Amino acid sequence: MTTFRDGLLAGKTAFVAGGTSGINLGIAKRFAELGAKVAVAGRDPDKAAHAAAAIGEGALGLSGDVRDYAAIRGVMERVAGELGPMDIVVSGAAGNFLAPVLGMSANAFRTVVDIDLNGTFNVFRGCHDLLVRPGASLIAITAGQAVNASALQAHACAAKAGINQLIRVLALEWGPEVRVNGISPGPIADTEGMKRLAPDAATRQAHYDRIAMKRWGRIEEVAESAVFLCSPAAGYITGTILDCDGGSQIGDASRGDLAKGMV
Ligand code: COA
Ligand code: NAP
Repeated sequence: MTTFRDGLLAGKTAFVAGGTSGINLGIAKRFAELGAKVAVAGRDPDKAAHAAAAIGEGALGLSGDVRDYAAIRGVMERVAGELGPMDIVVSGAAGNFLAPVLGMSANAFRTVVDIDLNGTFNVFRGCHDLLVRPGASLIAITAGQAVNASALQAHACAAKAGINQLIRVLALEWGPEVRVNGISPGPIADTEGMKRLAPDAATRQAHYDRIAMKRWGRIEEVAESAVFLCSPAAGYITGTILDCDGGSQIGDASRGDLAKGMV
């Protein structure tokens, strides 16, 4: 893709929590391509090391659990110490599985809320004094479940809805110095999330039917949304959730199909 000019992020430091695979790794790679110094973190140290190698020379791949405030704070202190104060922080770590409420223990519910919602609080709360201020940009990766209730997703719906409100509160509290936004990806091809949430043909079809643009999203497209939100082009945008989802959340896509059949 050639949507943003080379060197756009030169001199910037970016940290992506949960950036060791999938969509978040795609975001980290794109930041690096555009000139940023990049660090990623996840629980698995080997996966983090591989991710850093894939991002390129100088990238840091660190291990830390976003559920543990002290651990993730320590990771971010190291990032700021080695790469410089952070201009961009992405909170993208998440856990998910399909389960009905009655098939979900209290610990199962708590685990997903802890990774997604408490993890985002920990990352954002923990990074504030390590940010370039004024000017830093924070991005949380949320999901359509935040606004559209979905069976088998009580934990993720609750957690992502909480993230959406946390984004808005932080945008208000940190407004003059730090912009805080979210990206809500739609179903993105070749990701762990899709593998888990659309494990069979019928579920995949149900997801597909919701998409106005009638194709799966690409990791690179979410990465471009992240670049936009932390670029000067979004300099007056804060507290917003950018849907990068081919129109999956705007309504009943089957009516769109109906309309096409009528002309
Ligand atoms: N259905 C119901 N409960 C489940 C489950 C499933 N498919 N998978 C896990 N659980 C429950 C476990 O049984 C456990 O509850 P219990 O102690 O009452 O038995 C609880 O969830 C925690 O599981 P555990 O495996 O100990 O958690 P973990 O911290 O090691 O891993 C997960 C977190 C479960 C979210 C794991 O799937 C993960 O690491 N996911 C990261 C990758 C991912 O989900 N990517 C997609 C992002 S959209
Ligand atoms: P993924 O590949 O599983 O990425 C999850 C990342 O988070 C991994 O790097 C993982 O590494 C890390 N992680 C998990 N638990 C962690 C913890 N406790 N502490 C630190 N890091 C942790 O998933 P993905 O499908 O690309 O999804 C990425 C993001 O996009 C998520 O926020 C997800 O909710 C959102 N999203 C995805 C889709 C989709 O279609 N895939 C749609 C909407 C929204 P370790 O396992 O090593 O910790």
